[in-house]
Formats: sequence, C-alpha cells, structure tokens
Amino acid sequence: MAAFTELVFSGVQPTGNLHLGNYLGAVKRFVEMQARDAQCLYCVVDLHAITVWQDPEALRGQIREVTAAFLAAGIDPAQSIVFNQSQVPQHAELAWVFNCVARLGWLNRMTQFKEKAGKDRENASIGLYDYPVLMAADILAYRATHVPVGEDQKQHLELTRDIAQKFNTDFGSSIAAHGHGETFFPVTEPLIGGPAARVMSLRDGSKKMSKSDPSDNSRINLTDDADTIAQKIRRAKTDPEPLPSEIAGLKDRPEADNLVGIYAALAGITREDVLRDFGGAQFSAFKPALADLAVTSLGPIAGEMRRLTADPGHIDAVLADGAGRAETIAAQTLDAVKDIVGFVRRGPSLQTVR
Ligand code: TYM
Repeated sequence: MAAFTELVFSGVQPTGNLHLGNYLGAVKRFVEMQARDAQCLYCVVDLHAITVWQDPEALRGQIREVTAAFLAAGIDPAQSIVFNQSQVPQHAELAWVFNCVARLGWLNRMTQFKEKAGKDRENASIGLYDYPVLMAADILAYRATHVPVGEDQKQHLELTRDIAQKFNTDFGSSIAAHGHGETFFPVTEPLIGGPAARVMSLRDGSKKMSKSDPSDNSRINLTDDADTIAQKIRRAKTDPEPLPSEIAGLKDRPEADNLVGIYAALAGITREDVLRDFGGAQFSAFKPALADLAVTSLGPIAGEMRRLTADPGHIDAVLADGAGRAETIAAQTLDAVKDIVGFVRRGPSLQTVR
C-alpha cells in the first residue's frame, strides 16, 4: 500500500433505501474525501444490518444496492476500497477482543441502542447491544485516522476512541515490547460537519430523516424519480414566514433551517450563501428552486444506480476485489493484536516476544 498521511474509513448499513440524509451526511462526503492524501475504505456493513431481522434475499439485494449507490455517487473503486463487511473476517474477530476491552457501563449509555430497542429491550438481539463495539472494530482494524459520518454517529465514535485508548493503556507494555511504540491504535478523528450533518424529516423538523420513518413523504430516497422528489419537496412542512436574510433568523424555525441546509449541501455552499440569494423569498419561490437542484443532483445518481444494479456480477466483482485489498490491511492489524494480547499464532510472529 502506498504511504498516505490519512486513512479514512466509513460504513453504511444495507437496511433499505438510502435517503438524502445518508447521501448528504455521508456518501457525498465520502466522495469528497477521495481528493485528500488518504487511503479511503468504504464498507457496506452487512454484519451490522443483521442486528435487526433482515430477509435474506432482500439483504443480498440491498448490499448490492448500497454498493451501486457508492459507485453512482462517484466513489472510484480503483482508488478507494469498496467492500462488504462479512467478506473480511477480521472485523468480527477484532470485535471479540474489543468485547473484552469495552465495559458494560459504556454500552449502557448508548442512546441509539435505547432508541432502536424501544420498550421491549429484553427482546432485542445481543448484536444490537454490541453494535458499537463492532463499529469500533471496523474502524480500528484499519487503524483509521478519520471517519466521516452524520451527527447521529457521534456517540459511537466517542466509544471507538475510548476503546482505542483503553486497549493502548491496558496493553501498553506489550505494545512497546512488540515494537509499536507507545500506542497501537490511533485515537480516531470523527469528521462530522457541513450543512447536512443532521438532515431532518420533511414532515417534522424535530425528527431526523430516517429509513425507519413510516411516512415515505418524510424522506427523499436516492431511487426516487424526478416527479416524486419535486412532489415531496412541494409538500414539505414549512412555516408561513419568508426566508430570513441572516442565519440568526433560522433559529426556532426547524423546517426552514432544514430546507436551507439541504439546499446548501446539495449546492456545495453554506447556509449563509443560500440566505444571501433567497433571504426575503417565500417558500413558494424557494421550494421549486430546491426541487430543481435536488432533481439535477440526484437524478443522474438514480440513473447510474439502475444501470449498475442491472449487472450484479460487476458489483460482486467490485466487492470481492475490495475485500481482498481490505483484508490485506486488516490481517496485519489482527496479527499484531494477537501478539500484543498474548495469543499463540500460526506462522511467524511479526516481532519476537522478549
Ligand atoms: P447508517 O447506515 O445508519 O447511516 C449511514 C450514514 O448516514 C448518516 N446519516 C445521516 N446523516 C445526516 N442526516 C441524517 N438524517 C442521516 N441519517 C443517517 C449516518 O450518520 C452514517 O454516517 N453505524 C453506522 C454504520 C457503520 C459505520 C461503521 C460508520 C458501521 N460501522 C464504522 C462509520 C464507521 C450507521 O448506522 O450508518
């Protein structure tokens, strides 16, 4: 592998239609990261998906569809490593080691588990509870330095940092004895930001846009056609006031703030820029402009996704190639982890234990 200054990792679950929040908060930024001096790995996290029930046939299709969305959005599989998690066994292997590093108290604080498990917590899978530990393993199997995600993943990334730090401390002398210096795992930097770090529902500005919202009108799916996109934006909830000219005027106007943020993210500009152009405008003028922008930005992606998903053989080849390249990196990490932890490995140790 060429020497890059950064290693970028991120993942998306294949649990149904990708929506505008996934695109603006994550996938579009994955594409942008390719311009940095970084090795980027983008993973379809199928092991995470099965923490809640997935129909097997549908899951296979969804893994291919998320892969197609990555490629259609502009991720270059020759430059970046695109793969699905279950093809690289080191993710699950490292998660086990991290299960023995992470503390029960840390997981008990995870708000996303509480939201997803709901009232019937006794009936949630153990995988759903352990989800953030697997996520730490995804990131640290590559010793990734940067992780672009939406704001809802912030707490999970803090847990990843805690696990890395505890591993580095617990095994400090063994890490040094094996020639890795003072720390083995980096303390990963979350990259959360931009105008669309948290895209909200089109029907309720206090709820995030989500795959699980029962109302399809609450989200724009990457596969929606032009008419559907325009209609959903036309019907989006707003208030009766015109758009303000200053950012401060968006305070306490969650729906207006959300639409302005979506416009900014799609256009690659700031909320301030949007208000400079549309301050004083009524929604009857702003919504058609937003719909046009959304259709011209998303339409080509949907078309390319259709083309790609018609050829599953090609998608599977991309995933297999990516998995091979990912495994080369992850296997090195796991060899080192096994030596550090004190396991006896097949094959020569990377370093002779003193
Ligand atoms: P997932 O599949 O739920 O979401 C994929 C990405 O989309 C972002 N996102 C949003 N961003 C802005 N506004 C929204 N309304 C919105 N909804 C979703 C998410 O923040 C995410 O970046 N746990 C992760 C998957 C994962 C992962 C990882 C991510 C597994 N291992 C390792 C990073 C690194 C998840 O649930 O993504």
